[in-house]
Amino acid sequence: MQSSRNAPTDSPTAAAPSLPGHAAGPKGATTRVQANQQGSRLGLLLIAGALLAAPALAAAADAAEVTAEQVYAYCVDCHGKRGEGGQGGTYPRIAGLPQPYIDRQLHAFKSQARVNKPMVPIFKHQRFDAEIIDLVAGHVADFTPPRLSLWPYEPTPEALAAFDDKAAFETAGGELYSETCAGCHGPDAAGDDSGKVPPLVLQYPAYLKKQIGDFARGERKMPADGSCGEVTPAQAEAVISHIVEIGK
Ligand code: HEC
Ligand code: HEC
Repeated sequence: MQSSRNAPTDSPTAAAPSLPGHAAGPKGATTRVQANQQGSRLGLLLIAGALLAAPALAAAADAAEVTAEQVYAYCVDCHGKRGEGGQGGTYPRIAGLPQPYIDRQLHAFKSQARVNKPMVPIFKHQRFDAEIIDLVAGHVADFTPPRLSLWPYEPTPEALAAFDDKAAFETAGGELYSETCAGCHGPDAAGDDSGKVPPLVLQYPAYLKKQIGDFARGERKMPADGSCGEVTPAQAEAVISHIVEIGK
């Protein structure tokens, strides 16, 4: 379990131990974020200390003196300094997602209505109440979406095989997107005004693909009145390729 792949799972908890109480301001948090990145290899060594010190955040939260930067220190190892995500989309870009959407996801992770194993420890060891969730969601929503170089999308051979050729794959993706997705996610895949439908553009293809699969398998549930429709894995790739094209 302690392979380096798992390091991000453990290190944020490790990074957080010293989340300052009211004495330190955002500057203190920034220092820790940096220390945290340099020290992420030490995560496993530090984890015991992290768990002992965890009540510090709860105490600070009670006093309503915790800053968004301090809370975001729990996220930075996986989602990056500015919410850009990483590892090819294992960690999604969260920068600039709408605040109501982020809020809903964090509550869903907390209740495990949306299962996200890497984020479980945060909610287990920290008291992320609704106020803290609002705070960090607003902070992340304010980050500028990064320019990730996602284009061109390289379809898998299996996806390509479902179409006559690459051109047919691309045409199908465009049509499928405008006929079945654009109504909710917008013609430019930028989400809708309610803040409940997320943008899909500038998001890692691997992450989008996983979500579409999770919806199909019922592992991720839509809000009661919504559905992303049903697409085959090959169609999903065609749509994703089109979304990448939009964001190029
Ligand atoms: C240990 C790694 C890890 C940490 C720490 C972490 N996350 Fe995540 N997060 C993930 C992974 C992995 C996913 C994707 C889950 C999936 O595939 O459904 C995710 C998904 C999300 C999403 C959903 C994005 C979307 O488009 O639906 C949001 C929002 C999010 N994280 C916010 C946060 C915030 C805020 C924090 C800090 C309080 C945080 N995460 C800490 C690993 C992490
Ligand atoms: C009826 C409106 C609607 C339609 C149509 C729709 N979606 Fe969605 N989609 C949503 C909503 C709402 C969410 C957010 C669900 C939640 O809050 O967890 C979502 C989430 C997603 C996500 C997860 C994004 C993330 O950041 O985690 C993906 C991927 C997605 N949709 C793809 C598609 C694709 C591809 C299509 C077309 C085949 C489509 N959707 C059609 C409403 C829609």
